[in-house]
Amino acid sequence: MQFKKVGVWILSILAALLAVLIADHKLETCLIRNQLFNLMWDYMGPGVDECLTPTKLSLLKQVTGKVVELGPGHGSNFKYFAKNSVTKVYAVEPNLSMHPKLSSTAKDVGLDVEIIGALWENSNLERGSFDTVVSNLVLCSVNDLQGSLDLIQDYLRPGGVFLFIEHVAQPNGTAWRTAQNLINPFWKYIGDNCQVNRETGMLLKAMQGWKEVSIESEDLCGGMGLVNPKIYGYAIKA
Ligand SMILES: *[C@@H]1O[C@H](CO)[C@@H](O)[C@H](O)[C@H]1NC(C)=O
Ligand SMILES: *[C@@H]1O[C@H](CO)[C@@H](O)[C@H](O)[C@H]1NC(C)=O
Repeated sequence: MQFKKVGVWILSILAALLAVLIADHKLETCLIRNQLFNLMWDYMGPGVDECLTPTKLSLLKQVTGKVVELGPGHGSNFKYFAKNSVTKVYAVEPNLSMHPKLSSTAKDVGLDVEIIGALWENSNLERGSFDTVVSNLVLCSVNDLQGSLDLIQDYLRPGGVFLFIEHVAQPNGTAWRTAQNLINPFWKYIGDNCQVNRETGMLLKAMQGWKEVSIESEDLCGGMGLVNPKIYGYAIKA
């Protein structure tokens, strides 16, 4: 037990050092950082996609009607949508360097996708009009988590469904949570603004205005406890 704790600390300190080194080489320049994230995602994306596949298969087949996906990246989720019951997808992706691949994925899958190159909070879509909002490993990197959750609820029509897969904070008092808190200020340089210690599920459950909230939490991808605790599920607007 003690040994495991020490291991976690050493790992965190090494990761923090690495992050400081990267940050120090002026990689905080937004464009370069986005390119770096893009490259990293090209490398890691398929693996993450694979371990999340069973979850995505069952969750994302519930995507219907008028849809908005937050930060779809390269559009790796589109293939799981129930194509015949989706009318249109609004893809809000602020990282412009991902747009070419995003639009080619949309074409391949045969979905009607409109790409919006804006931050979620500036996306200006029609409130109360969406059947489904999808967020897959995105809420860790929005600027204002509660504001983003409020906006998700705002955009849904009554009875509309928010579907999510997110990685979240470890419980307070665990060694991994300590490591998350420690690494968090640096992690944004590696993970494109990602915060690893957000209690997203708890915030969602605490909100008014949902008719039903269902959250499963599982060890979905094994490995690193820093980003591994994942939740998935749905919230239905009242
Ligand atoms: C995307 O890029 C924006 C700025 O262009 C950045 O603030 C944000 O963290 C990035 N998010 C993701 C998930 O790539
Ligand atoms: C965990 O600790 C953080 C920071 O001290 C606090 O903001 C948060 O509310 C705590 N979470 C729970 C579930 O108690």
